[in-house]
Amino acid sequence: MTTPRRCRHRYTLAALFIVALAAAPGPQALDPPPTEPAPMPLVDVMEGLKAHLKFIAQHLSDPAERPAVLEHVHDMQRLAWLAKTMTPETVAALPEPDRSARQLEFRRTMNEVLIQCCRLEMHLIDGSPAQAWGIIKGPLLKLREKGHEQFQEDDDG
Ligand code: HEM
Repeated sequence: MTTPRRCRHRYTLAALFIVALAAAPGPQALDPPPTEPAPMPLVDVMEGLKAHLKFIAQHLSDPAERPAVLEHVHDMQRLAWLAKTMTPETVAALPEPDRSARQLEFRRTMNEVLIQCCRLEMHLIDGSPAQAWGIIKGPLLKLREKGHEQFQEDDDG
């Protein structure tokens, strides 16, 4: 029994299609290599925290600025979240096992910053600028002092 001609054509076309697929470049070859965002140095993240905090402190009680203030708080949270995975130079310079322990302490302190930024946001959402101000001049200021004392390089080195 012979295969009808139309069927043979179909087989040939299917075979050609499979060969073409196998020969085609894979997605890796077609797609450009994924571009990682340029890593931001810790000092820039810190400058960002400072700038957002300044805006928040200056516009805290202005209802017209409420959406912008909330956006700046959210930006602070993003930066604190980013900072906690970074390594300060004072930590990078340590020998193991001290380095790992200090890195965890840094991460923990940045988590506290993140938590306070969330508290700050909730006071703003609740329309309590006085309590929001309390977070800025209380826990956030203390965390900044503690963090810099423990992790920033001495200027007079
Ligand atoms: C809202 C809280 C914070 C603000 C606004 C802030 C702001 C800043 C600013 C403006 C700088 C640049 C240098 C200077 O002016 O002193 C800096 C540097 C630095 N901060 Fe903070 N900071 C905060 C919290 C923290 C915390 C909690 C830590 C540690 C857990 C920390 C660790 C550092 C380190 C290690 C540097 C030096 C970075 C470098 O030069 O590579 N900061 N910070």
